[in-house]
Amino acid sequence: MNITLTDDEVGILLTAAVHAPSLHNTQPWRFEVHAPVIDVLLDAERTLPASDPADRAARIGIGAAAFNIRVAAAMLGHDSRVVAEPDPGRPDIAARVFLGARSTPVPTLGGLYGELSRRHTYRGPLLAHAVPPRVQARLDDATRAEGATLRWLDQDAKSRLAGLLRRTDAADLRDEDRLHERMSWIGGDGGTEGVQESALGPMPVKPALVRDLSAGFDSAHRSQAVFEQDPAIAVLCTRQEDTEAWLRAGMALQRTLLVATSYDLVASFLNQVLESTASRTQVRDLIGGRSWPQMILRVGYPAQPNHVTSRRDWRESYDHWF
Ligand SMILES: Cc1cc2nc3c(=O)[nH]c(=O)nc-3n(C[C@H](O)[C@H](O)[C@H](O)COP(=O)(O)O)c2cc1C
Repeated sequence: MNITLTDDEVGILLTAAVHAPSLHNTQPWRFEVHAPVIDVLLDAERTLPASDPADRAARIGIGAAAFNIRVAAAMLGHDSRVVAEPDPGRPDIAARVFLGARSTPVPTLGGLYGELSRRHTYRGPLLAHAVPPRVQARLDDATRAEGATLRWLDQDAKSRLAGLLRRTDAADLRDEDRLHERMSWIGGDGGTEGVQESALGPMPVKPALVRDLSAGFDSAHRSQAVFEQDPAIAVLCTRQEDTEAWLRAGMALQRTLLVATSYDLVASFLNQVLESTASRTQVRDLIGGRSWPQMILRVGYPAQPNHVTSRRDWRESYDHWF
């Protein structure tokens, strides 16, 4: 059965959408609403040609935004489903969310609504508490529910990843295009996009498995901290490697992060090794060579309070009223 959306409902759905994570908080989305359909478009002016030339990360962010719409829709009592690239005549539409009257209850989705504004990327040190196996299993379930897989790395794989991260970080410092791109989105203390300096977290006193987004340029105000030596690391991967798989990876990422938040867990990402084909291939080998690594998550319990990034108002990404 078709539904109509009030202006307030559109606001609730799109406010939820823009809470999604995106690489460097570029918020690479636009929205069109023709109820009962919400289209999520790739905003070509908010992509990152040096770090993300194929728009893989941008589509992961769009998948996360589409998943947030589903969560808010469930909270409002609507069913939903997502179709990737629904219109060959409109290749800019990355995802279409169909809303419908609810026929069967989906308590798990609507129950995540409260976590949308609690979830933030946390780049500080983690407590020494391990993630309990039963909680890991819930995260595995969340990823699998959206058609992706979480691969938890053992000690050997973590130390191989650490070596790869060191080499990638060193190469990154010599890559001027990527450096300039990062400088235009990272740092500073205000604004509604990009990653503010306060959200970068402290600098590790000793090398740690955390990405310093400001590596290579001035970050004079950063404090320092001792980081955990052995965080839980999981690679979110997909069977396929195409634009639809990237969208699904984003939905799986967001579902996993929201479930993690519900257990008071936090995550940050080590995705620099997925930003070039050569290092991504090595991560692929690390997880057995059969699936495609889409996100690398460092997961645990935060040892410090979190600082959050801002968002543009949803109306800035929404210029068509139908
Ligand atoms: C595809 C993708 C890749 C990301 N890669 C990294 C990364 O390598 N390092 C990092 O610190 N954060 C990474 N992030 C997190 C973003 O910086 C973060 O989502 C954004 O700044 C918004 O902040 P929030 O997650 O706290 O809402 C990534 C996010 C996405 C969606």
